[in-house]
Amino acid sequence: MSRKKIVAGNWKMNMTQDQSINLISELNQITSNDVEIKIAPSFTNLSKAILILENSEIEVIAQNVHFEERGAFTGEISVEMLKSIGVSNIIIGHSERRKYFNETDIILSKKVKVAIDNSMKIIFCVGEELSEREKGNHFDLIKSQIINGLFELSTDKIKSVIVAYEPVWAIGTGKTAENHQIQQMHEFIRKLFKDNYGNDISNKLRILYGGSVKPNNAKEIFSLADVDGGLIGGASLNFSDFKAIVQAAHG
Ligand code: PGA
Repeated sequence: MSRKKIVAGNWKMNMTQDQSINLISELNQITSNDVEIKIAPSFTNLSKAILILENSEIEVIAQNVHFEERGAFTGEISVEMLKSIGVSNIIIGHSERRKYFNETDIILSKKVKVAIDNSMKIIFCVGEELSEREKGNHFDLIKSQIINGLFELSTDKIKSVIVAYEPVWAIGTGKTAENHQIQQMHEFIRKLFKDNYGNDISNKLRILYGGSVKPNNAKEIFSLADVDGGLIGGASLNFSDFKAIVQAAHG
């Protein structure tokens, strides 16, 4: 089963408007038919990014969304607002949201629901802390994150989901998971989808790896059987690194 690879850059809380415009103009030169490229700038940089990349194949996506459709939620951004500027894909459940903003499985399942009910695609992130892996709890934890966050979706709606497996201990630490750990978890996730939604959905599901993907390890990671690309933090802020990672995703 061949699945198109995805390389998605998560800029997190980085880049002023000028810095963002500079990087996007550089990225605009990348052409790539075989790989889906996505970037997730901060909310303030989304509109400009969409404008600059109007004729590009690079998709501009959001890093977060609120779970209510509208109302008295000072400082929050709704799915309708994102839609109105041309965003159609959102990262939900990043470990930094879970950890620093107390986003629980219940909150995340509401975010998933509001996004998908409004025809958005999502990249849903899961991942374990080092302590959980050391206790041997990592498979159970990932299973509960996936079941609680996603498995209320119908077979039709689950098609809009991409999963990103990001072990928390590998994010921004320069420490990547071992290849066999990555493959084992991706295979486990695909099996969960198979058991719940059947072969067709699980074969088509794209599962990204995230956590210190760099130009020097990307090719090896992307060649693992159940890895369909990467969610890239730090290295997505540097044009030549990101370009090299996109290159590595070519078959
Ligand atoms: P990193 O971040 O590539 O800097 O480790 C990955 C992520 O948080 O998505």
